[in-house]
Amino acid sequence: MEIGNMVKAAILGYGVVGSGVAELLTGTGTGRSKKADELIELKYILDLRSFPDSPLTKYFVQDYAVIEADPEVNVVVETIGGVGAALDFTERALRAGKSVVTSNKELVATHGRRLLDLAAEHGAVYLFEASVGGGIPILRPLSECMAANDILEICGILNGTANYIFTRMVQDGVPFAQALKGAQANGYAEQDPTADVEGHDTCRKLCILSSIAFGWHVLPDQVATQGITQITLEDEAYAADCGHRIKLLGRAIQEQDGTLCAYVEPHFVSIQDPLGGVEDVFNAIKVKGDATGDVMFYGRGAGKLPTASAVVADVIAAARKMERAGYRPWQANRPASVRGPEGLPSRWYVRLAEGSLSGGELLKRSGAPAGERAYLTPALTRPALEEQLAGQKVLSIIRVLD
Ligand code: HSE
Repeated sequence: MEIGNMVKAAILGYGVVGSGVAELLTGTGTGRSKKADELIELKYILDLRSFPDSPLTKYFVQDYAVIEADPEVNVVVETIGGVGAALDFTERALRAGKSVVTSNKELVATHGRRLLDLAAEHGAVYLFEASVGGGIPILRPLSECMAANDILEICGILNGTANYIFTRMVQDGVPFAQALKGAQANGYAEQDPTADVEGHDTCRKLCILSSIAFGWHVLPDQVATQGITQITLEDEAYAADCGHRIKLLGRAIQEQDGTLCAYVEPHFVSIQDPLGGVEDVFNAIKVKGDATGDVMFYGRGAGKLPTASAVVADVIAAARKMERAGYRPWQANRPASVRGPEGLPSRWYVRLAEGSLSGGELLKRSGAPAGERAYLTPALTRPALEEQLAGQKVLSIIRVLD
C-alpha cells in the first residue's frame, strides 16, 4: 500500500493513551494537534465498552473486522496493550497493508522483530516511539541521529510510576503503597501495576532500546530484573545522608567480548549525576556512543498527552511518507549473548539489622533502632559482597551507580 498524504486512522483501545490520541486528533478535551488536523482523519475507535455520553460517540465500533475491511483506513493505532488481541489485530492490520503505530512496549519487546519484518513484507510500517519514554523522542534519534556510533552503553530511568513513587517517598515522606496510589490516580501506572513496581515495564523498554541500539532482538526473559517493592523510607533516608537518590535503572553495557550485560535494578544514584536529579514522572535515558560520548534524553515518561504526543507523531510520520525513515532492521535474537550483572563490580549500600561490615563508609539516619548499621562498601562484585555478608542479618542491598 502506498501511504498517501491524508491518513485515515483507527484507534484500537480507548484507555489512557488511546483517549489522549483521540483528543489530539479531534480537538476534544484538553488536547489538540493542529499538524495532525491537517494530515489525519480519525475514522474509528475500537473498544468493547460503549461511551454514550462521549462527544466522540460516532467513532466507536466494537468489531475489529469493520476496521480491517475498510480500505480507507491506512494507519491503525494500537493502544490496547498486552500480547493478546493487540498482537492479533496488529498482525491482521499489517497483513492488510495498513501501517501500525503503538505504545505497547510488551508487544514490541517480545514480538517486535517479527512485526517489523511483517510490516516490510506488506509495504507498511510499524512504529513505536511511544513505547519507550512516553513523550521523549528517543527511538528515532537513537536509530537515525546516532547511526554513526557504536553504542557502548544505555542507562535509563524508564518507568514514570517507579520514579513518581520514589519522589513522593522522599519529598512527602509517604510510604510506598500510598505513593503507588497517586501514580495510578494520575494515569501513569499500568492496568496491573505489578509490571511497573516489579521492573518488567523497565525491562521491556530496555529490550526495545537495546534491540535498536545493538541491532539484534534482545528479549525480556534474557534480562535479570529486580523491582522496587522492597525499598523503604529508611533506605531513602540513608541515600540522602550520602548525597544519593534511589532510582530504578535499566542498563545495557556492550562488553568487549561481544556479549551484552543487561539488567534492571534499583540503584543509589548521586545527586551530582544528571540521572540523580530526575524526579516525579520524568524519565531520562543516557546513551553513550563511541563518537558522541554521553547523550541524554529527558522528559515526561508516562501520562495521557505526553504519550499520545509520541503516538500522533508516528502517525504524522506515516502520513508524510517517512516510512523509509523507520528503525533499522533487527537481527535475530542471540540466545547466549546476554549476561546479568553478577560480574559487574560496584560499590554497594548495605543495611544490617545488627552486626558490622569492615571497610565500608558508615551512614547515618535519625531514628535508627539500636544495632542497625548502614554502609557504602568499596567496589566489588555481588557474589564477593554476599560472601562478606554471610551470616549477617541483612535488611537491604542496593547497587551504587558510579
Ligand atoms: N506505566 C508506564 C510508566 C507508562 O509508568 O512508565 C509509560 O510507559
